[in-house]
Amino acid sequence: MTGLFVETWHGELLLADSVSEEQTEQQYWHLLNKDERKKANAFSRKVLQLKYIKTRGVLREILSSYLNIEAQKIIIKTAEYGKPFLAEANLFFNLSHTGNKFVVVVSNGSKVGIDLEQLRNRKSMPALVEKCFSKTERGYWHSLSAEHKTIMFYRFWVRKEAFVKAVGRGIALGLNQCEINSDNQTCFSSIPGEYGLPSDWKILDIPINQHHVCAVVIKNMDFQYKQIELK
Ligand SMILES: CC(C)(COP(=O)(O)OP(=O)(O)OC[C@H]1O[C@@H](n2cnc3c(N)ncnc32)[C@H](O)[C@@H]1OP(=O)(O)O)[C@@H](O)C(=O)NCCC(=O)NCCS
Repeated sequence: MTGLFVETWHGELLLADSVSEEQTEQQYWHLLNKDERKKANAFSRKVLQLKYIKTRGVLREILSSYLNIEAQKIIIKTAEYGKPFLAEANLFFNLSHTGNKFVVVVSNGSKVGIDLEQLRNRKSMPALVEKCFSKTERGYWHSLSAEHKTIMFYRFWVRKEAFVKAVGRGIALGLNQCEINSDNQTCFSSIPGEYGLPSDWKILDIPINQHHVCAVVIKNMDFQYKQIELK
């Protein structure tokens, strides 16, 4: 492939039966490195362990398809605040998982972040809006009808998480530190100065299904976007 690209991959993590549990271990365990196996072994709940093993295994297979390196030989390092990255290739990625779904984003253009959330009615939504949304975002959210409040809460949430993951700081940065432009929701209107101008970044809303909301944040550039569903 030539030119800049952003590609997202999404799929299911586990099927609820013991055969698939064994298959997951057989299929993916050998792809993991020492640190990943150590992390996998630290999960006390089997289901969480299997989800981690599968996510990391699938991530390695996806990266392998771009790098032409065997999945188990890819060197994945971890940055200061926990963001995984490739030390030896000019390829950027990030991942997110919730429930039984995972998403991975890969780009050759710039650092990138992705977040996936499952839609559900949270009692804590107004409190989270108070804490994590800017004044303008709060005003926008409160102006919405009750039926739009839930979906828009999650849309804003995943975009903000995708930003803090793109820059690698995680939620410690504070989700209220980036403000989405309520009139053009593919753009930010404010971000911390150390990450450049709001116009340096772009938001992509990724359609998954009616129960999940997903967004990617990446440097603003000309790229081809492609979405791939793993079956
Ligand atoms: C990153 C973070 C926002 C993820 O939130 P989440 O919604 O619970 O989880 P998601 O499923 O969306 O993302 C998890 C994945 O993000 C990646 N990730 C972890 N830290 C990251 C960071 N700082 N930036 C970008 N991506 C990160 C990992 O691949 C992780 O998956 P894995 O643990 O299976 O490898 C949150 O965990 C966080 O802020 N972590 C940073 C904690 C920190 O500051 N640690 C410092 C010491 S390491």
